[in-house]
Amino acid sequence: MSQDIATPIDIRQRVAIVTGGAKGIGKAITETLSQGGAKVMIVDIDIATAAKLAHDLGRCGRQVEAIEADAASVGDASKVVEAAVEIFGGVDILVNNAGFYPFTPFLEVDEDCWDRVLDINLKSVFFYSQAAVRQMISDKKPGVIINLASVEAIRSIKHLSPYAAAKAGVVTLTKALALELGPHHIRVNAVAPGAIKTPGTKRMRQFLRKEVSRHPLAHRTFARHLQTLMATLPLGQEGEPNDVAQVVLFLASEAASYMTGSTVVVDGGFTLV
Ligand SMILES: NC(=O)c1ccc[n+]([C@@H]2O[C@H](COP(=O)([O-])OP(=O)(O)OC[C@H]3O[C@@H](n4cnc5c(N)ncnc54)[C@H](O)[C@@H]3O)[C@@H](O)[C@H]2O)c1
Repeated sequence: MSQDIATPIDIRQRVAIVTGGAKGIGKAITETLSQGGAKVMIVDIDIATAAKLAHDLGRCGRQVEAIEADAASVGDASKVVEAAVEIFGGVDILVNNAGFYPFTPFLEVDEDCWDRVLDINLKSVFFYSQAAVRQMISDKKPGVIINLASVEAIRSIKHLSPYAAAKAGVVTLTKALALELGPHHIRVNAVAPGAIKTPGTKRMRQFLRKEVSRHPLAHRTFARHLQTLMATLPLGQEGEPNDVAQVVLFLASEAASYMTGSTVVVDGGFTLV
């Protein structure tokens, strides 16, 4: 008898940890994985929003918990995995989604800015993966890690240099971990979104508008450049968080069982023009 077409993407009863899972792309990932039947632990510094999302999804019969933790903290990574074990009995899927992308011209990037961007976008991926993998190996269970990279790793725009470096690091780290963890039946892949409508990109646009009015000469050309990029997007518009979440669901599921070390670009054609 042939298999039901939906069977390979069934993730019922798997336990997923989603960093930055309260808003934007992370929120869509939380919703999609829980809709697919996974038990989800939202990790976020914005605990009020995370707790409300967990509560709302709980009312729809989903098993979702929220924990206040910093993606950039190595200590918090162990604390989060311990909580997932205590509440849900283990960890099967880790989505390293938390990110931070301040627009800063190269000459204005100071050490604090560099450290914060690298800590949230890259160090977090390393140490949350390490904590989750220790648990997966000790439970002798297969696992999945999905890292949020960015088209910035492939085709940079101006004023995001530490972020571009961090996301290129995420792409390479994804390959390095896939190589080491394959023998443990742990798959590691990345998703590289293009321009997606989220609270983070809204903040970026507001910041840019302020900069253009304060320093018209320095920033107007750049703002026009961004406008042109958006106007020439092959798929014609910015993406929605759910466009990324659907790909994360695919990578988390058995439908992607022979994929590891890949970075899937989800950008409406941004990197083509
Ligand atoms: N939105 C885009 O266009 C886009 C494009 C490419 C890549 N990305 C990547 O996708 C991911 C999500 O981006 P987004 O636009 O949804 O972001 P967002 O700013 O809209 O939301 C980020 C979420 O992460 C949480 N968060 C921030 N710092 C945290 C920390 N230190 N610890 C725990 N939680 C933290 C926030 O509270 C929020 O819930 C990021 O890794 C980002 O780099 C986004």
